[in-house]
Amino acid sequence: MVIKPGIIDKALGHCEKKWGVGFKIFFSPQGKRLDQRLFRKLAKTINLNSSKITVEKKHTSSKSHIILVCSRYEGMDARVEKEYADEILSIGDYVLMGGDLPAQVFLEGILRLLPGVVGKEESVHRESFESPFLDYPTYGLPVKWKDQTIPDVVLSGNHAEIEKWRDEQALQKTIRRRFDWFSSWPLTKEEKKNGLKSIPPHYIALMHDQVILGNGKEGVTSITSLDIHDSARSSSTYGIKKAFIVSPLKDQHSIMDTFLKFWRSEEGMRYNKTRCEAIRRIVPSHNFDEVIAEIEKKEGIKPIVIATSARFYSSDNVIDYSSHERVWHSGRPVLIVFGTGQGLSEEFMEKADFILIPVQGMTDYNHLSVRSAIAVVLDRWIGVHQKIDDASVT
Ligand SMILES: C[S@@+](CC[C@H](N)C(=O)[O-])C[C@H]1O[C@@H](n2cnc3c(N)ncnc32)[C@H](O)[C@@H]1O
Repeated sequence: MVIKPGIIDKALGHCEKKWGVGFKIFFSPQGKRLDQRLFRKLAKTINLNSSKITVEKKHTSSKSHIILVCSRYEGMDARVEKEYADEILSIGDYVLMGGDLPAQVFLEGILRLLPGVVGKEESVHRESFESPFLDYPTYGLPVKWKDQTIPDVVLSGNHAEIEKWRDEQALQKTIRRRFDWFSSWPLTKEEKKNGLKSIPPHYIALMHDQVILGNGKEGVTSITSLDIHDSARSSSTYGIKKAFIVSPLKDQHSIMDTFLKFWRSEEGMRYNKTRCEAIRRIVPSHNFDEVIAEIEKKEGIKPIVIATSARFYSSDNVIDYSSHERVWHSGRPVLIVFGTGQGLSEEFMEKADFILIPVQGMTDYNHLSVRSAIAVVLDRWIGVHQKIDDASVT
């Protein structure tokens, strides 16, 4: 059942006869998805002040109130939104039976931004989603409840320490639970630095051992200088601590040594300083155990191993690019492993703690170079994906 346009005409006509032209917000699962950023934008567009709501929109400056238009059943005739809607909002990617609850959600969200509605305005500004961060943990009495106690610092009375603790907690919690939210903001240099510090240390390994060859058998591949250059540059860009290049072959190591010798020399420095800096992250390794041992020596604990593949796996340990909390909750360092040749051997894949879903395009061509895959995977896993603010509201 679809709501006829005439019914909406009548309802709007009735309202506007009494109150004047209104700013019309329609609710639909197909609308712009509401979040705190959109609420803030709308609060500005719909200029809220303490005594009354005045709606200011350049082409509709006479509008002096909001009309929330909710539908039911199959929705309303498609022409109505086109004719009337100043804004179409969704409260999430699911379908309810009617727009009445979405309208209430909208009212709750927007009214608390109206000065005076929430007693302490600054507390609204510190809440989750007002910035790149979720809110810090809050506590009330009793100090001891079941087997949990309020952290000492909160009870210390030292305001500077409490503020510092709150900021750290908010950062930690956001990074683990909502890295997507944190990384969608235009972050300052300081926020990026602190964000990276809150993420467990990350390493990558580029395997020329334990990989599948063109003949389908397991074997070793040759290193290429392009892969080394690009692994180093991607590692520097995304804050990877070290990029291990793994080959069991002596002659491959001697090629690598010659290459690294140049990039660690004064001549290399004069030739390209930033490249030299990136290439400092490269560590030649003879086998995978050596990589694990090296990270354990540095971090005091073995890393979590994430294997990558162009193939799909269907085990329980397959993760996607939103699985940060699952991987990071233990605080252990993370090692992301990339294969050369036809990819990492099945035996290697079976031993990994996690397997990342493959990077995919919308074609059947499935042959990214490993250096491209490294860049894409790192970008999707720990890259900043800033959203342009103005895109959300017309
Ligand atoms: C059953 S829904 C219609 C769904 C529509 N046929 C579709 O698939 O997109 C009926 C009405 O409920 C409201 N509604 C349902 N889910 C909503 C959501 N996630 N956000 C905002 N409004 C919603 C809208 O007013 C919608 O027109």
